Amino acid sequence: MSGRIPQHFIDDLIARADIVEVLGRRIQLKKAGREFKAVCPFHDEKTPSFTVSPAKGFYHCFGCGAHGTALGFLMDYDHMSFVDAVESLAGMIGIEVPHEEGQRPAQRFDELFELTQKVERHFQHELRDNDKAVAYLKQRGIDGATAQRFGIGYAAAGWSRVLDKFGTSAEMIERLLAVGLIIRKDNGKHYDRFRDRIMFPIRDSRGRCIGFGGRVLGNDEPKYLNSPETVLFHKGRELYGLYEARQALRHIDRLVVVEGYMDVVGLARNGIDFAVATLGTATTNDHLQRLFRLTDYVIFCFDGDRAGRDAAWRALQNTLPLIEEGRQVRFVFLPDKQDPDSFVRENGTAAFEQALQEGVALSDYLVRELSSGVDLASVDGRARLAELARPLLRLVPAGVYRELLLQTLAESVGLSAFKLEALLTAGSEGKDNKMRGKAARHTHRATRMTGVGKPSVLRRAITLLLHYPQAAQDLDVEKLADLQRPGAGLLRDLIENVQAEPGITTAGILERWRHHADGQHLSKLATIEVPFDEEFDAAAELAECLQQLARVAARERIDFLIGKERLDNLSVDEKAELRALGNNPVKPHIAMD
Ligand code: UTP
Ligand code: MN
Repeated sequence: MSGRIPQHFIDDLIARADIVEVLGRRIQLKKAGREFKAVCPFHDEKTPSFTVSPAKGFYHCFGCGAHGTALGFLMDYDHMSFVDAVESLAGMIGIEVPHEEGQRPAQRFDELFELTQKVERHFQHELRDNDKAVAYLKQRGIDGATAQRFGIGYAAAGWSRVLDKFGTSAEMIERLLAVGLIIRKDNGKHYDRFRDRIMFPIRDSRGRCIGFGGRVLGNDEPKYLNSPETVLFHKGRELYGLYEARQALRHIDRLVVVEGYMDVVGLARNGIDFAVATLGTATTNDHLQRLFRLTDYVIFCFDGDRAGRDAAWRALQNTLPLIEEGRQVRFVFLPDKQDPDSFVRENGTAAFEQALQEGVALSDYLVRELSSGVDLASVDGRARLAELARPLLRLVPAGVYRELLLQTLAESVGLSAFKLEALLTAGSEGKDNKMRGKAARHTHRATRMTGVGKPSVLRRAITLLLHYPQAAQDLDVEKLADLQRPGAGLLRDLIENVQAEPGITTAGILERWRHHADGQHLSKLATIEVPFDEEFDAAAELAECLQQLARVAARERIDFLIGKERLDNLSVDEKAELRALGNNPVKPHIAMD
């Protein structure tokens, strides 16, 4: 994020710099509890409202709002450029700034990649030596060439095979930890993460191994174990098989998104070498952007079970904001209990190709889902369809594709696109009208209060994390995978960054975001006062925020299901899901009467 100076160096610099010392050389600081106070150097004042927090590495003036890190102070106070400020701070600590050609940063990542590559080879050797593992792959139809192409290996049973072979020094042990291959126990000892598992190396776009997925040979749980989030590996961004697909194909004219490692491998074995898999997560916006950078034609082909159908609908929702002219998106629904791997093994390559050809276009899938069960012959039915479509169409960027979508929808409703559009807007007005009167005023005030006084949960979570980075250590970022609103991606990124760099301070985070669009926003949030006493349990607060956000994501799902329920159009599964989501089915109720 910082141009020519490597980010890890800035991380180090901020972690080692003492903001009190840096500022203390220029202005008079006075200790006040955990913090330091000073007369603000950036505006005229008599009583000090300039506060420095050594723990956060951050200063803030309550009088004029000036705020920043040690680097920011040098830039603002000494009018230095960013690079000069880095040089100056590094000089104070007595370390040298690595420049473009500098060895350290490249080395650090190189060292980690070198390690993952060695371990990958080690797993491949282990596979050759283990009849049981080879037999397992054979029995699943994987031949030697395919195994080789994906670098499939085997982690032998035992608690320290990788540890013993590669953890030959304290530094090597640190590296093994950094890439998630070993786990540290409370007593400081270590053990191998992957034991007695078939190993699938996960590669980045340059083919470097950034992590692994490991499958048990039998029926133990968990079936798959993945590398944790590390500096190299961010699950929500990576697509298994993408590198291999790019290697196999000169030109990628379409990509199929599947759910599992074995789906990618099984398809490749059968000549379908353009499949990629998300790693046990929903298809995220990041995934989709990566896909669309490579091709204009994306086909989702998930398992033929309820989870697979849910995944498809979520993929559709996440795709809508990215849809534009020229991009084609299809959905393939496999027969019940089949996944792409089993389907292609049983029915062959031609049948799978056929299934791809017969995939449902995104617009048709959307219309089909929304209108199944709606009586399109009745005015009511059409209105209900419009009601269901409204929130989804709102996600689609204005443009040709949206017009087309509207057209498709209109056709199936038997209305002109113009009329349908009117219906779509009329619906929302209808709702607003109903809100008129006392209730409306009340809600209005409540919203305003949320806007000004009471920060949103998302904003609170980000603020807490900024002030108490350590509190985010054990959060499960997966819970937020489906959360769509603005800021959700930022929160996910922050959590991942903090977890990958456990010692990071507030200032460290801000420096990582300095050259990022959200940087200013974050540094403002860092000036918000939050409790700073022993009683305050930031980790618990943050976990509670996450819980609430996870509920919001669930709520959105519930709203959708309730919408369908109004149409008496819930499948048995969906009814069960709705109940499980903690909502008693509401009485059929027509909103647009
Ligand atoms: P599936 O259970 O559909 O796996 O999970 P699969 O690929 O069909 O596996 P096989 O055919 O039984 O070997 C799909 C994906 O979800 C993630 C993995 O990425 C898996 O490929 N997953 C699944 C996990 O991360 N952990 C698990 O325990 C299970
Ligand atoms: Mn499978």
